[in-house]
Amino acid sequence: MATREEVERLVRQVVGEVLAATGGAAAVAAEPGRRAPLVAANWKMNLLAADVRAWPAKLEPPAGVELVVCPPLVWLPLLREALGPAARAALGAQNVHPAPRGAFTGEHSCAMLRDAGASWVIVGHSERRALFGETDAFVAEKLRAALAGGLRVILCVGERLAERDGGATFRVLRGQLTAALADLGFPAPDPATLVVAYEPVWAIGTGRHATAEQAQEAAAFLRERLAERFDWRWALAARILYGGSVTPASAAELAAQPDIDGFLVGGASLDPAAFSSIAAATARAKERR
Ligand code: 13P
Repeated sequence: MATREEVERLVRQVVGEVLAATGGAAAVAAEPGRRAPLVAANWKMNLLAADVRAWPAKLEPPAGVELVVCPPLVWLPLLREALGPAARAALGAQNVHPAPRGAFTGEHSCAMLRDAGASWVIVGHSERRALFGETDAFVAEKLRAALAGGLRVILCVGERLAERDGGATFRVLRGQLTAALADLGFPAPDPATLVVAYEPVWAIGTGRHATAEQAQEAAAFLRERLAERFDWRWALAARILYGGSVTPASAAELAAQPDIDGFLVGGASLDPAAFSSIAAATARAKERR
């Protein structure tokens, strides 16, 4: 199998040839490392109707960054209406049930989420794993169903503090990623539809974010595993996010890391100004590269 360096060299060569042939018009999206940055808001179980109506007014989407907002499901239609027709951000759900319909009290299918305006869904969040007993196998089932059901997926993986302290970070990340992708058949999904979020559990809601080095090391590790699972071309096209106590103050340094393509933001996303400023910092960091 080709290494990352070989694929990057090959793609650079092809891009160079295309640039030479087109006078430079065709390039940027094809260049590895030029993945469209993505910043997603996970509101979790926060905000009431009045907050939802007010939130979009202070949203300032920067150019060149894809935004996704995942409100509590009950607010999805209200948020869609409040965002307006200009679609300044895509909508996502925080959970999905893999079955198409049936006796699953309290749950929602892919088709329901799509009908309500969602194009994304978060799968495998550590809160769902820890608080609601979601297993790797159930995460894999949801992931497969969501992609098959026309939703784009933000797949969350991340180690607990004891696992990091015990030197098990990479074993945990490899295990969660491998298990989550186990049910996917061939062909491989479009890399634009499957985003991986590295969310160390010890950084979620604690005010203690991973250092840029820790986040980069984990993101690069996940990208290598994606290359093993699919191939390097796929892995270099896929977005990897960091999540865990991201704030406007920490976003720039984290976003400057080569394998971090954006963020999954919890607490700070409740404030549209803070969320916009994280997105703006991401845009600036990626422009500079
Ligand atoms: P915080 O940004 O509040 O730490 O939450 C991160 C998270 O879990 C996003 O899914």
